[in-house]
Amino acid sequence: MSTTEQDRTDGATAAFSEAVKAASWEVHEHAEHSRYMQDLMAGRLDRAAYARLVAQQYFAYRDLEAASQRMADDPIGSRFVFPELYRLPALHADLDALLGRGWRSSIEPTPATAAYCGRLRDVAATDPGAYVAHHYVRYMGDLSGGQVIRRVVERTYDIADHAGTSFYVFDRVDPKAFKQQYRLRLDATPWTEPEKARIIDEVLLAYRLNTDVLAELA
Ligand code: HEM
Repeated sequence: MSTTEQDRTDGATAAFSEAVKAASWEVHEHAEHSRYMQDLMAGRLDRAAYARLVAQQYFAYRDLEAASQRMADDPIGSRFVFPELYRLPALHADLDALLGRGWRSSIEPTPATAAYCGRLRDVAATDPGAYVAHHYVRYMGDLSGGQVIRRVVERTYDIADHAGTSFYVFDRVDPKAFKQQYRLRLDATPWTEPEKARIIDEVLLAYRLNTDVLAELA
């Protein structure tokens, strides 16, 4: 992502990214401190339990990235379409490494993942504000805590060359710089006040849908 004129904001709109983070930090803490995440971060899960998370993420990113493609022609949604972030190829590679090449026939979405995917297909793929909310929750998380998760998972399962963790490797962006630009873009996009409120609501819902998936995996 490059900085464009439109990404430079004035003080009046600069705070939307901060408002989103502030409104959702409490639910972020719930996600971060969910049983599954705590067990994963403490090295208490076996490799099969980690693979179950990767499989559920495969279904979610399949639908999230299909939503990105639907947004490519939308004047607002397209501002948040970043092929350089796409995770689906990495998830394919990780599932090959973790479950073997026949993984497609051995995985299915849990009920919570099916609910999450339903929201991605029905709402995120059609409403630009909702799309941005779901996009933000996943990719900003992957670029933030995801980088910590990768190090722990590689150590726990003795993974070399990211064989099973390539999901967390963004080789086309610098995570820190990208997140800064992303926040600027959130701030510079001409949302109306009602749209901002709806985006925040959808961010909270996206966290809940993610936390439900983690609860089912625990
Ligand atoms: C062990 C699990 C997790 C850890 C250690 C963790 C850690 C972090 C940290 C340190 C940040 C702050 C980064 C910064 O300010 O630049 C962050 C941001 C974020 N995380 Fe997590 N996180 C975890 C799980 C999750 C989960 C499960 C989600 C969502 C499903 C998530 C979504 C986000 C988002 C959206 C942000 C960006 C907030 C913002 O700057 O606006 N995180 N995470």
